[in-house]
Amino acid sequence: MSDSVLANVNPHFLERLIELASHHEVTAAEDVCDETGLTLLPKGGRLSAESREDLLLHKLRRPLECCLTIDHFQVVSNARDQLAELVESHTAAGILVRHAGCAAMLARMIDDLAANRLICLSLALTDTGEGYQRWHLLQSMVVAVSFGKLMNWPRAGLDDLATAAALHDVGELYISPVLTSRADSLSPAQWKQIAIHPLIGYQVLTEMGTYNPAVCRAVLEHHERIDGSGYPHRLADNQISSMGQLLSVTNTICAASQTFGHPIRRADIALRIIPRQFPMELVSYLSGLLSKQPRGDWVADALSSEEATRAMHGLFGLIGHLTLMLLELEEHPLIKSQVPLRHLLEFISKRLDIIQRAFSSTGLDSWPAHRRADWLAEDNGEMRFMVVAIIDEIAWRLRELARDIYLRSEGMPSAHRAVIDPVIQEMHRAAVICQHGEALSTS
Ligand SMILES: [Fe+2]
Ligand SMILES: [Fe+2]
Repeated sequence: MSDSVLANVNPHFLERLIELASHHEVTAAEDVCDETGLTLLPKGGRLSAESREDLLLHKLRRPLECCLTIDHFQVVSNARDQLAELVESHTAAGILVRHAGCAAMLARMIDDLAANRLICLSLALTDTGEGYQRWHLLQSMVVAVSFGKLMNWPRAGLDDLATAAALHDVGELYISPVLTSRADSLSPAQWKQIAIHPLIGYQVLTEMGTYNPAVCRAVLEHHERIDGSGYPHRLADNQISSMGQLLSVTNTICAASQTFGHPIRRADIALRIIPRQFPMELVSYLSGLLSKQPRGDWVADALSSEEATRAMHGLFGLIGHLTLMLLELEEHPLIKSQVPLRHLLEFISKRLDIIQRAFSSTGLDSWPAHRRADWLAEDNGEMRFMVVAIIDEIAWRLRELARDIYLRSEGMPSAHRAVIDPVIQEMHRAAVICQHGEALSTS
């Protein structure tokens, strides 16, 4: 195990465990030994801050992930309570699980989780936070299994799907909480450190040796998209396993429906705004489900009508400004002489064009300016909901593009990066501004 990435205890993972151990009983299920056989934490011993140094200084004989355990009963009973709440809720998870009629099966799956130490630890670790991350693993599991059931997956496949969904973000536990707690506001350079979490998760699960390779692969692929715009490997189409594709859809549904308003309509917009990013079969299924939903409340309090109007104007202005920047760059001497740089510019233009066309296809850019305020009035909930959701998705796609360009330009000489950097900065800055409904200055 000395070559293993798990031989050295990851400091961020350990810190989270020690924090958890301050209010939960996290104990050694077996002797935790270094590679020479020296016991660092005896079987039955409780993890505490006192073990920190020993665990960080020695290479371990067996991964810590395999040796520690938490009070299963409490974790499983919490998860069951949360499932019961989700089943009753107006979240995407609640709607899907009721439609699939698989609440009882999910409750049995959760009972079975008691046997999986890493899942129990992960659930306990992520259960303590607030906001999006809180319950995210459980919600993902509910959405993925419900979707799998609706798509007639066999029971064995559903069990694997539950495991993969419960562990899909396990890699984030090995990254500094300074980054993971503010993932929405990271610069492209900071985000690069988060973008490897699918790879870390894959390595951890593979090295533990107890997981079905299909589960490990799906964890690796949960941010890939079939048009090749995902990460970490920019896989496309059938390069992504069917479980990876389903997890990618699940992740998008959970993230989108977390924000505001009608959760299935919100998820539908997120999945369809850019054509061919997600498998057509799954997207169509969700649209079919949407047509059976009551029209519901059109709560769009993420942005006021005034903010939505400003953000919409800002987005039009920004895309136009970026297009102009790219046109000007075509004349740059380095772009003309350096093939990799020219290819990067072509890639950016192509992706920006896709985003622009997606925005135009919503029809918002053909709204007469003098009517926009009326259509976005506070009492026109449905319209405001749609506009806010579209702005949110377009802004998010611009930020994803900024991050992707940053990664693609990373290996280039600094003079070449300096040519592209203003585009990245502008794209990233504007996406953040749009998400807060602020007007843009494109001067
Ligand atoms: Fe993730
Ligand atoms: Fe996730």
